[in-house]
Parts: sequence; C-alpha cells; structure tokens
Amino acid sequence: MSTAQKTIEDLALFGGRPAFEQPLHVGRPNTGDREKFSNRVNDILDRRWLTNDGPYVIEFEECIAELTGVKHCVATCNATVALEIAIRALGLAGEVIVPSFTFIATAHALQWLGVTPVFCDIDPETHTVDPRDLARLITPQTTGILAVNLWGRQCDINALESIARDHGLKLLFDSAHAFGCSYQGRMVGGFGDAEVFSFHATKFVNSLEGGAITTNNDELAKKLRLMRNFGFSSYDQVDSLGINAKMSEVSAAMGLTNLESLDDFIVTNRQNHRQYAEELAGLNGITLISYDQNEHCNYQYVVLEIDAAQTIVSRDELIRVLYSENVLARRYFYPGCHRSAPYASGLVLPETERICDRVLSLPTGTSVSPADITTICEIIRTVVTNGREVSAKFRSETAKSV
Ligand SMILES: Cc1ncc(COP(=O)(O)O)c(C=O)c1O
Repeated sequence: MSTAQKTIEDLALFGGRPAFEQPLHVGRPNTGDREKFSNRVNDILDRRWLTNDGPYVIEFEECIAELTGVKHCVATCNATVALEIAIRALGLAGEVIVPSFTFIATAHALQWLGVTPVFCDIDPETHTVDPRDLARLITPQTTGILAVNLWGRQCDINALESIARDHGLKLLFDSAHAFGCSYQGRMVGGFGDAEVFSFHATKFVNSLEGGAITTNNDELAKKLRLMRNFGFSSYDQVDSLGINAKMSEVSAAMGLTNLESLDDFIVTNRQNHRQYAEELAGLNGITLISYDQNEHCNYQYVVLEIDAAQTIVSRDELIRVLYSENVLARRYFYPGCHRSAPYASGLVLPETERICDRVLSLPTGTSVSPADITTICEIIRTVVTNGREVSAKFRSETAKSV
C-alpha cells in the first residue's frame, strides 16, 4: 500500500506518513517458478549429490555457455572467488589496471592475491573505464586489465582489446552486471581472455549465491576447473594449487529455475525502466541512465544522475527523503574504491568522484509494481520541483542540531 506525496508537507521526513508501509529494496531478488525449484531440490535430496560437479551444476554451465555463445563456463560459489581464480589462472601479478568506479570486490580480488590494483578514471558518459586514462597508467609492472561492464553497459571493448594486444596484457572482464547483454551484437561472455558473471541474490538472475567464468580458451578453462576444486585432477591427484570455489547443486537448481524466467525478468525490468523514464521526464537536473536499444540489455539497474546545481537538493538529501518514505535508494559505488580505506592514497580521479557524488539507484525488478514506480517518481518530483524549500528545510534542521 502506498500513499501519494504531493506537497513537501506530505513527505515523511517533514511530518507526513511514509509512502510505503514496507521497505522497497534495490535488488530485491527475482525468483522463478517455485514448484520447479522445489522439484529440483527434491531431486538433489533424493540423489544425495549436493555438490562437486553435480548434474545441475553441469546443466547450469551448459546453459550459460549456450546463452553467451562461449565454449566454456566454469560455475563458482560467487563472482568474487571467480575473479580470484581467473586472476590467478591468467598469471596476473605486479599491477593490474582497474576502474575505481565499481563494487569493491573487483579491487579486493586483486589485492587479496597480492596484485596491486591501479585505479583508472571512467568515461562520464558510460561510467566504464576510460581507455585513454587506462593507457596512460601502463608501466613495465602492468600485467593486465580488469575492466568492468558496469550497469550492464559495456566498456569500449574494441579499444581495450587493442590496448591489451599492443602491450601484451591479459584482459579480464568483470561482467557481474552484464549477464544477458551484448556488445556490437555479440553476447557478453566471450570477450578478452575471460569474463566473470555474478549470480548473487541481488542480480537479476540469481543462484542464491553464485558466479561463473566464461572463456573460449581451452587451456585456461582446464586450469580454472582444477583451481575451483583444490587442484584435484582426479580422485586423489592434485595437479595444481587450488581453492574451494565450487557451486552447490541447490545454487545451480535456483540458477536453472531463474534462467527459465530470464526473458520475463528482462521484460519486467525494461517496462520498469521505461516507466521511470516517462514519469521522470522533464525534471531538471535528473537524468536516468539509458541503455542502447540496439543491443541486448538486462535493464537491471535504474540509475539516476543528480545535478545538484539544478535540483538544489543534493543526491544525499534526496536519498534521505526516499529512505524516510521506505524507498531504500542506494548510492553506488560511493566513495569509489580509490577512496575506500584499504586503497586510500590521496589519488584524485575527477570523473569517478563526480559520478560517485551524483548517482543513486532505485528499486526495480519483479517485486516492484507500476503503482510503486508512480509513487517513487511522485516523491522525486515533489522534492525536485520544491528543491529550494526542501533544501532550506534540511539547512534549518542542520542549524538546529549544531
Ligand atoms: C561489479 C561487481 N563485481 C563483483 C561482484 C561480486 O559478486 P559476488 O557477490 O557474486 O561475489 C559484484 C557484486 O555485487 C559486482 O557488482
């Protein structure tokens, strides 16, 4: 149940009733057919084959390989460990160039293995790595590029492939956001040396927790499979260093069930995105990031850029208003990896920092209804069209609390 917030007095932060009784989360999981999932779980229990290359994991890998048009898919327990084994299997060492504007796991995966993440800036239009800034950072210690297909919008992959080729660097993609998306008509998954997907609960296709590495390189796939399972090549033969990165059968069962609803999830995400675009149209200072209609897109993120010079209300003030209405909008990926404690060194990345201060992500997915979106947009409209007044209220509140 939601209520309309048409004037600033209606806003919960200023005395009104919250628009939503229950919190609306960003990334509330999509769940496919419950009966099919239960049947698969019963199967798993009947077979008593819970993990270690079980039939559902193999089927999940085959589905991902087919959907992405890639030769090999190695399913894992999550994308962070997938990144780690891919980094190790590719022999990355020394320095690897990575955007700072990404989820912290991208940088952690490198640092965890003793590889130095060298942070590069982003293209303010796409929010993905700026190939020119990246090229400037290459040193004799650089062994690779870890690029991120953020929001499911692809990097300038042609430029990155050419830089990697010219400098003899490995090219790995963190495509945690980009499952089901394409670049110049080809599905994401087969670019660079390898790509990593996340099937975490918040991703539009989830396997509870889960990840996958895709590659067309036979040798690399073999290494990844060994590393995923402690280096075991047979029952009691250990051929290489390895870790436990295996996906469980229940995760694969969830993943397979959700893959059967993939098209429906995308249709819902696309409709939600279109509705947000229509209902926020014409609001000065609010830009909804768009997706290329000529590509396959999963539309799993509804991301706004707030230009506070026009809205007067800052991004953080808008988030406070939304929170008090039970709309748990999130600022992604603030403050940027390069300003997070393990990496903070005083480095300045102007575009990353500007975007970190401007973006917020709104609820979407199958648990958000058209009426919810209308209410969320109404709140944003009320705040932005009364920007000066709302901002003054925030200022007087701050003055009172000092
Ligand atoms: C860009 C990016 N990379 C990596 C990850 C890590 O994925 P996982 O949670 O599956 O380890 C995430 C997760 O949200 C992500 O957004």
